[in-house]
Amino acid sequence: MDGLLTLGIETSCDETAVALLRGGRDVLADYVGTQIERHRAYGGVIPEIACRAHMEWLLPGLRDVLARADVRPERLDAIAVTHRPGLIGAVLVGVTAAKALALAWDKPLVGVDHIDAHIAAARFARPDFAPPHAALVVSGGHTQLHFVDDDATFTTRQIAGTLDDAAGEAFDKAAKLLGLGFPGGPRIEKTAEGGDPDRFPWKRTCLPPDGKNWSFSGLKTAVLHAARGVGKGRTAPLLLDAQGVADAAASFQRAVVFALVERTMEAMRGRGMRRLSLGGGVAANGALRRAFTEAAAREGVDLSIPPMGLCTDNAVMVAFRGAELRRAGVRDPLSLEAFSVRATPDAVRSGARHI
Ligand code: KG4
Ligand code: ZN
Repeated sequence: MDGLLTLGIETSCDETAVALLRGGRDVLADYVGTQIERHRAYGGVIPEIACRAHMEWLLPGLRDVLARADVRPERLDAIAVTHRPGLIGAVLVGVTAAKALALAWDKPLVGVDHIDAHIAAARFARPDFAPPHAALVVSGGHTQLHFVDDDATFTTRQIAGTLDDAAGEAFDKAAKLLGLGFPGGPRIEKTAEGGDPDRFPWKRTCLPPDGKNWSFSGLKTAVLHAARGVGKGRTAPLLLDAQGVADAAASFQRAVVFALVERTMEAMRGRGMRRLSLGGGVAANGALRRAFTEAAAREGVDLSIPPMGLCTDNAVMVAFRGAELRRAGVRDPLSLEAFSVRATPDAVRSGARHI
């Protein structure tokens, strides 16, 4: 293993994160500034607040990481930064800082795709887990199944995805409708522990008839109707008692998990794929982790799920992905752009950095 020192910077949503990685797996220091408290009152991430917090915390986070790792900037081998997809203002804070540091310290800059970083987290977690593999990314902004190639840069090809809301977004919205607050994922998970997943008939609601993708918006409407009444709107009084809320949370969680497992395993069977990684904030969900572990054992699939702290946004995964790219010879110019969307693989291959 080489001793490449890679600085990772992540600011695409509401986590300000910086990490320093040596070689493949040696995390010298890791900083995650979670902005949950600043967004809680609004029940969701407010982009302007996220941008301001990134600007406030990024440089202190960077100083903290370099001090704890006891590494001087001149020893760095690369600066990796998330440059897509995400809240554009938030992504720009990280990209601008990374460019300034790369220029000031004369270091190679590597732009990292946030989805690729979530996928790479599973390779970071398991040294023996390598492409080709399937990768399910379930986060606040994305729900996508990819196949990861074993070429030099581990190119990804999307096989399936959500037709509307992302799974994490659905968790957050359902939690809001059930009066559980923000962030929704962990709250639904906790509340579901005391609930009956068969109380509401939602199990198959997230499986659109195309036999391939997911849809979470219908489930959200079903939760709205159960919680607030048909045609009453989101601000109508909550109709469910505490047990009803727990049952709705359990039924909701079961529907999401069932759909994700069902369609992922189907896609893998159809293509003879035997390795699968999970990533993204929703992969921190215990019910999801258990269901995939059981399905993988049943079907003889080798499954890699990163530890919880590497599922939610962090900079270790960005540094690790950046190091993978750097090893493959990737170096981006200081004109590296920030994008709110993920470029298609075709666009990347043709040299375009956006769609
Ligand atoms: O990957 P991530 O940290 O940020 C994005 O890139 O979007 O994912 C955040 C999402 C949020 O929607 C949050 O509610 C969800 O991940 N999440 C969970 C859990 N922990 C976080 N969803 C379900 N169960 C959890 N335990
Ligand atoms: Zn993420």
